[in-house]
Amino acid sequence: MNRQRPFTKLKNIKDASKLPKEEKVKSNTQVTKVLITGGCGFIGSHLSRALLEQGVSVRVLDDLSTGTKNHLPHEVELIEGSLLDKDLVAHSVEGIHICYHLGAVASVEKSITNFSKTTAINLLGTIHLFETISKLSVPIPIIYASSAAVYAGYTKLPFHEDLSPLPSSPYGADKGAVELYAKACFQTYQIPTIGFRFFNVYGPGQDSNSPYSGVISIFCDKIRKGEEITIFGNGTQTRDFIHISDVICYLVKALEFPFHGCQIYNLCTGVAISINQLVDTFEQLLDKKIFRKWVTPRKGEPKASLGDPRRTIRDFDIKPQCSLEEGLKTLIESQERNLCV
Ligand code: NAD
Ligand code: UD1
Repeated sequence: MNRQRPFTKLKNIKDASKLPKEEKVKSNTQVTKVLITGGCGFIGSHLSRALLEQGVSVRVLDDLSTGTKNHLPHEVELIEGSLLDKDLVAHSVEGIHICYHLGAVASVEKSITNFSKTTAINLLGTIHLFETISKLSVPIPIIYASSAAVYAGYTKLPFHEDLSPLPSSPYGADKGAVELYAKACFQTYQIPTIGFRFFNVYGPGQDSNSPYSGVISIFCDKIRKGEEITIFGNGTQTRDFIHISDVICYLVKALEFPFHGCQIYNLCTGVAISINQLVDTFEQLLDKKIFRKWVTPRKGEPKASLGDPRRTIRDFDIKPQCSLEEGLKTLIESQERNLCV
């Protein structure tokens, strides 16, 4: 079995430690209470737990459309409702030092089939938050979720942060527009922001039951049930899969950020994994044959997605640690645990 760390494959990319250090993170330890929009979702609930462990109080605003209260530790204050409710958004930011904005319809497909409804949440919902924060006597920093979907129109790999959004879906356009509004809000209202362009995040707690779920959670669930998995296209398409534990390390570290503008960072590993490789890795780990069915490729989806992680590694001083093998093991183990309780 290949037990290499993911970063052994970064050899072709210039070592992050050799890049200039002027933007290196300084400490900012005044944070005691944060708001997480979308805190009942996959990433948000992991983040809530991690922040509580750091001694930070957590408030969540979530409409429970895809998230669930069951994922949330009881110490978290939950405000149940939508980003579209301006009064509720205003109430949610009271007494908050930093806002993590993760609340969104997190699906390219839903944004295509339900265009205006999705955009209302992903873009207008975000603007409600920005507007509310602009009215505070001192605007609080916002750490928000952008997406690798903003790179959909590019083919030259890896994607780096200096590329302007070139989306090919309403979802990608909303995330790109949020980045633009973040810039405008810094210029106009001095709201400091960090936008993280998440690549393909996976790990325990990710929903596997929706057609919009991530490929790893779908495969893991089907393999456990002994069902055949479906591969769209020939399986040579690649993605940059990042484990939730690495994502959370960066999001927590972002609390210490000096917040002096409107920065954009990739959250990725810099390692491309094909869908066929992914299934092979599951087979090796479980030591069993997985039945595969190949169907026509999904319309319009990128053949390859790979992020350049160097700027994020340099400025946050953390490298992603979790290899695909280790990450898949955490998923398999968490499924086994859930079956035993
Ligand atoms: P998720 O669906 O598990 O979480 C999103 C949360 O937002 C859910 O709890 C949902 O109930 C909540 N929400 C939706 N509409 C809302 C509204 N109108 N008001 C308040 N809350 C609302 O998705 P996730 O994977 O945890 O994604 C979190 C963020 O990261 C999203 O912004 C998503 O676009 C972004 N992102 C995720 C990935 C990934 O691979 N998971 C990749 C790129 C970007
Ligand atoms: C993902 C994110 C999206 C994000 C985008 C950024 C998820 C669910 N979606 O989309 O939020 O904005 O990256 O680029 O994480 N596949 C199969 N069989 C399946 C399911 C998927 O072969 O049963 C293939 C897909 O065709 C695709 C790959 O697996 O090539 C990854 O699919 P998916 O997990 O849905 O993520 P993205 O489409 O990359």
